[in-house]
Amino acid sequence: CKTSIVTMFRWSLAFLLALSRTQCYFSEENYTEESKMQLPTVVIAIIARNAAHSLPYYLGALERLKYPKDRISIWAATDHNIDNTTAVLREWLTVMQQYYHYVEWRPMDKPTSYAGELGPKHWSNGRYEYIMKLKQAALNFAKKRWADYILYSDADNILTNPDTLNLLIAENKSVITPMLDSQSAYSNYWCGITPQGYYRRTAEYFPTRNRYRTGCFPVPMVHSTMLLDLRKEGTKKLAFHPPYGWSLQLERVCCVYPEVQMYLCNKERYGYLNVPAKPHQTVEDDRINFVHLYLEALIDGPPMYVSRYVHVPPKQTDLMGFDEIYLINLRRRPDRRERMLWSLYELEINAKVVDAVDGAALNSSDIKILGVDILPGYNDPFSGRSLTKGEVGCFLSHYYIWKEMVDMQLDKALIFEDDVRFQGNFKRRLMQLMEEVELAELDWDIIYLGRKQVNPGQEEPVENVRNLVFAGYSYWTLSYAISLQGAQKLLNAEPLSKMLPVDEFLPIMYDKHPNEDYKSQFLNRNLQAYSTNPLLVQPCHYAGDPGWVSDTETSTLWDNDTVRTDWRGSYKNLKGGTPPAGIQSSSYRDEL
Ligand SMILES: *[C@@H]1O[C@H](CO)[C@@H](O)[C@H](O)[C@H]1NC(C)=O
Ligand SMILES: *[C@@H]1O[C@H](CO)[C@@H](O)[C@H](O)[C@H]1NC(C)=O
Ligand SMILES: *[C@@H]1O[C@H](CO)[C@@H](O)[C@H](O)[C@H]1NC(C)=O
Ligand SMILES: *[C@@H]1O[C@H](CO)[C@@H](O)[C@H](O)[C@H]1NC(C)=O
Ligand SMILES: *[C@@H]1O[C@H](CO)[C@@H](O)[C@H](O)[C@H]1NC(C)=O
Repeated sequence: CKTSIVTMFRWSLAFLLALSRTQCYFSEENYTEESKMQLPTVVIAIIARNAAHSLPYYLGALERLKYPKDRISIWAATDHNIDNTTAVLREWLTVMQQYYHYVEWRPMDKPTSYAGELGPKHWSNGRYEYIMKLKQAALNFAKKRWADYILYSDADNILTNPDTLNLLIAENKSVITPMLDSQSAYSNYWCGITPQGYYRRTAEYFPTRNRYRTGCFPVPMVHSTMLLDLRKEGTKKLAFHPPYGWSLQLERVCCVYPEVQMYLCNKERYGYLNVPAKPHQTVEDDRINFVHLYLEALIDGPPMYVSRYVHVPPKQTDLMGFDEIYLINLRRRPDRRERMLWSLYELEINAKVVDAVDGAALNSSDIKILGVDILPGYNDPFSGRSLTKGEVGCFLSHYYIWKEMVDMQLDKALIFEDDVRFQGNFKRRLMQLMEEVELAELDWDIIYLGRKQVNPGQEEPVENVRNLVFAGYSYWTLSYAISLQGAQKLLNAEPLSKMLPVDEFLPIMYDKHPNEDYKSQFLNRNLQAYSTNPLLVQPCHYAGDPGWVSDTETSTLWDNDTVRTDWRGSYKNLKGGTPPAGIQSSSYRDEL
C-alpha cells in the first residue's frame, strides 16, 4: 500500500514536471507576440446631390483608400436630385456593405428641388440649411457609435491619393483637411477671414496653393473635405445644426469655430475638387467642369479612376463636324497616346491615331530618299544649328496628314500633337467657334487652337467671329484646324525639298515670318491663318517645368548621323521668352 502511494506520488510528480516542461516549452519556443492595435474607427459621411457624373470617381477613390474597410462605417444621404445620383449610390452601397463595418443609407426621392433655387447646383439658403442638418445627423450617428473620426467629403472631392486618410490621421489634429487641387486657384481652405466671416485675401494663399510652402498649417476656414477627431475634447461641442460658430453664408459649407484650430495640409497631392457651379448652371455645366478636372488629374496626377462597383454608361464620341480628327503620336510614346486617348474619350471626341514619323529611326540616306532637303540658309533661331532628324520627322508627320486630306478630299480636319492640355469646356467652345466661322462664311485655311504667340498683343480680331484673331508669327503646331484648301496650299509649296521646322513653315506660308530670306523661297504665301483667342489648348509641360520629361535620347543632324545635337530647340518650348542659362534638353517637339 505504502509502495503504491509512493509510486503514485512519483507518477504525479513526473506528470507535473512534464506538464511544466511542456508549458515552458510552449512559452519559450511557441511564443505568440502581443497582437497589434486595430486602426481607429472612421465614419465617412457621403452627402451627394446631382452628382451622378462625379460619383463613379468619388466612390472609386473611397474604395481605394488604403484603410481597412471593417474599421469604416459609411453614412450616406442623397436628396433633391434630378439626375441618377440615388441609383448610382444605391448600386455601390449594395455591393460595398459586405466590406464596410456598417452602412447607413438615407435616400430621399422627393422633392427634386428647393423653393426659389436658381439651378440644380445652386447653394440656396434652403440648401445650406438642409446640408447642415445632414452633416449634424452624420455627426450624431458617428458619436453614437463611438467612432474615433468622421470624414466629410463632398461628392465632387476626389481623394485620388489612397494614403490620404492615414496621412491625415497621423497629423493628430482636431480638424484637418487635405489641400485639394482644382482647375483653377480655387481650393478648400481660406488663409484669411473677415470678422463677418467672408473671404479675405492674404499673402499666404498662393504660396500654399502652389506648394511653394508645404506642411500642415493652421487656417481660419476649411470646407468640402475635412476629418474631425471625435476623441479630442475640443470637438465635443462642435455642431452644424443648430449652428454653433459655423458660418452659413460662406461658399459651400464650412466652418468657423473659435475653440478648435483647423489645419490644412499640402505636403502631398491628395486629390481634386471641382470648381463650384454658378447658381444658374445646369448639371451638364457641372459635368463639363468635372471633365476638365479629370483631364488635369491625368496630367498632374494622381489620376482618377472609376469605381469597380458602379455601372458607368459608355460615352458617345463624335468628330465635332470635322471630317477627320488626327492624333499624331510616336509609337514609342504609348504613355502620351494613352493619356490623349483617355482625354479625348472623356471629351467625347473621336480621334484617329497616326503614327508619327520617328526622326530617330531615320538615317541621312533615308531622308535623302524621301526627297527631303533643307531650306538653303536655314538655321535654328536659338542654337544656330541646322535641321535635326526630330524636326524632319515632325514635319513629315504633319505633311502626310495634309496629303491624306487632299487624297481623300476631306473638307476640314483637326490635328493634335500628343502633349496637349485642354482648356476648360474645350469641346463646346470649339464647336461654337466653328459654327460662327461657318455663319460668317469666313474663308480660312488653318486655325490654330494652340501655339506660342511670338509677339503678343499685335493681332487683329476677326469680325463676326468671337474669340478669333488673325494669326501673327507663332511657334508650335500643338493643335490646329485645317481646311482642304489649306492643305492643298501647303502641298503646292513643295516644302519637302526646302524643309525647315513645320512651325516655321506655317508662318512663312501666311506671310508673317520675320525672315525675308526664307520667305523669298516660297512664292504663294497666301495661307489664311487664324488663331483662337484665348487659346483652347496649351502644352502639357513647358521646358524646365517640374513635370517636364526630358527625353535623354539626343537627336542628330538631318544630313549627318554622327553629329549629335546638344541642342537648344527646346527654347521655343519655354513658357516665357528667353531660356534660362545652361538649359539643354529635348522636348515633345524634338522627339517628333
Ligand atoms: C512548437 O513549435 C515547434 C517548432 O516550430 C513545433 O515543432 C511544435 O510542434 C510546436 N508545439 C506545439 C504544441 O504547437
Ligand atoms: C442609373 O444608375 C444605375 C446604377 O448605376 C444604372 O443601372 C442605370 O442605367 C442608370 N440610369 C441612367 C439613365 O443613367
Ligand atoms: C495627439 O494629441 C494629443 C493632444 O490633442 C496628445 O495628448 C497625444 O499624445 C497626441 N498623440 C500622439 C500620438 O502624438
Ligand atoms: C539607312 O537605314 C536603312 C534602313 O532604314 C538601311 O537600309 C541603310 O543601309 C542605312 N544607310 C546608312 C548609310 O546607314
Ligand atoms: C559629319 O560631321 C563630322 C563632324 O563634323 C564630319 O567629320 C563628317 O565628315 C560629316 N559627315 C558627312 C557625311 O558630312
